Amino acid sequence: MHYTITQPEVSDALELTKLHNQSWIETYPNEELGISQEYIVDRVSNRLSTKGIERRETAIKLSSENLTYFLRIARDESGSIVGFIDGNLKDDGYWLDGLYTLKSTYGTGLGKLLWESYLPWTNNNNVSLTVASYNTRAMAFYTKLGFTKKAGNERKFGDTPIPVIDMVRKSNKF
Ligand SMILES: CC(C)(COP(=O)(O)OP(=O)(O)OC[C@H]1O[C@@H](n2cnc3c(N)ncnc32)[C@H](O)[C@@H]1OP(=O)(O)O)[C@@H](O)C(=O)NCCC(=O)NCCS
Repeated sequence: MHYTITQPEVSDALELTKLHNQSWIETYPNEELGISQEYIVDRVSNRLSTKGIERRETAIKLSSENLTYFLRIARDESGSIVGFIDGNLKDDGYWLDGLYTLKSTYGTGLGKLLWESYLPWTNNNNVSLTVASYNTRAMAFYTKLGFTKKAGNERKFGDTPIPVIDMVRKSNKF
C-alpha cells in the first residue's frame, strides 16, 4: 500500500475527526479494565459537534505555521484519510501527542512513515509521549523507535479511566 503524507486543509477537519474517532474505538476498549466500546464511542462523540469541528479547523490552521504545533495526515491510494500524527512544542520540550491509524493498515509501514514525517520537526531533541499502559502494540512500536518508559508516572488519562504512562526518546545530540 502506498500512502501520501500531507499538511491537512481546513476542509479535511470532518474526515480527519472521523478517522481519529474510529482509531480510538479500535484501540481503547478493554473488557478487563471495564472500558467498553460504548464508553469510548460516547467519549469521542463531542469531537464531531460543531464546536469540536471548529476546534479541529483551528488546529489545522495553527499547524500550517509549523511553529509550536505539527500535524500531518496520511491518505491511501483511494484518497481516504487513514492516519495522522500531531505533536506540540511545550515548555518542557517536544511531545508526540497523537499517532492514529486504522486497524486495516496495521503493519503496513504507515506508523513509521508518519513518525518519519514528524521527527525532523523536533530538530533532534528529546521527544515525550503518553501511551495507554495496555496498548502493548503501540508500546512495542515506540520501543522499536527508541522510546523507553519513564518511571513513576502511571496515572489515568485526563477524566477517563484509561491508565497511561509516559515514554521518552532521548536525543543523541547531548
Ligand atoms: C502502533 C501503530 C501506530 C504502529 O503503526 P504500524 O503502521 O502498524 O507500524 P509499522 O508497520 O509502521 O511498523 C514500523 C516498525 O515497527 C515495528 N512494529 C510495529 N508494530 C509492532 C509491534 N506490535 N511489535 C513489535 N514491532 C512492531 C514493525 O515491525 C516495523 O519494523 P521495521 O521498520 O523494522 O519493519 C499502529 O499499529 C496502531 O496500533 N495504531 C492504532 C492507534 C494507536 O495505538 N496509536 C498509538 C497511540 S499512543
